[in-house]
Amino acid sequence: MDVQRSGFFTEQNSAEVVISRMEACEDARLKEVMAVLIRHLHEAVKEIEPTQEEWMKAIMFLTKTGHMCDDWRQEFILLSDTLGVSMLVDAINSRRPTGASENTVLGPFHVDGAPELEMGADICLDGKGEPMLVRGRILDTDGNPLEGVTIDVWQANDEGFYDVQQKGIQPDFNLRGKFTTGADGRYWFKAVKPKFYPIPDDGPVGQLLKQLKRHPYRPAHFHYIITKDGFDPLTTHIFDPDDPYIRSDAVFGVKESLMARFEPIEDAAQQREAGFDGLYYDVEHDFVLARA
Ligand code: BEZ
Ligand code: FE
Repeated sequence: MDVQRSGFFTEQNSAEVVISRMEACEDARLKEVMAVLIRHLHEAVKEIEPTQEEWMKAIMFLTKTGHMCDDWRQEFILLSDTLGVSMLVDAINSRRPTGASENTVLGPFHVDGAPELEMGADICLDGKGEPMLVRGRILDTDGNPLEGVTIDVWQANDEGFYDVQQKGIQPDFNLRGKFTTGADGRYWFKAVKPKFYPIPDDGPVGQLLKQLKRHPYRPAHFHYIITKDGFDPLTTHIFDPDDPYIRSDAVFGVKESLMARFEPIEDAAQQREAGFDGLYYDVEHDFVLARA
């Protein structure tokens, strides 16, 4: 008799027997996804040979991960991020032509409804941190400037916290803004120099990182969502290449093409011309959108 169809489970045929139970499933994609997951999960269990205690530990880890989740905290996404799965899913879903800017993780701190600001506005609402000028152009893959592009930008403050992590401490929408390009495709705004910061590490994912002797830090960055009708939306960052964690981002989000020099401007005339009355940092980075 066909062992798979008999329905009896053995250590050898474990994956096949479970997969064969889904035969009547009419959702072809679900059936395919579940079959692949079951096959790989059973393979992993066969390779690891967990004790009952170890398996229960894994179940308890996932239980705690679920309990940690609420409207503001998504511990499963952090798990996916720190295992490199978020970046892998992102890479698969954002293959672009040569020359187009690369995507990276969205992260959990984007909020809808950031204020729409005039080009040149300062997104820092509390006056804290080292001032920075962020500028560049939005281009198509032929190098033409793009008009009417929306740039949604957000960053952590110089203590490494987003406004939503410090409600009542930072003003709402601190270090967030939306800008729209004119005919020259240029963008520029004032901000503060971001610093490296730890991803939320007070839950089971942070505990796991500690046990694995991994640090929880992300190198200093600005986040962007850049959109224009007819073009592939770009969710990305720019990173400070001099950051101590640039080669060991806890969520694997750094790409060579997304590093942009954060240059200190010490020249008084240049400071005045840019609208600063002392030292500021300048970063220039062009983004290239691919046609949808
Ligand atoms: C962030 O850059 O905001 C972020 C990304 C992934 C996990 C945690 C934070
Ligand atoms: Fe971030």
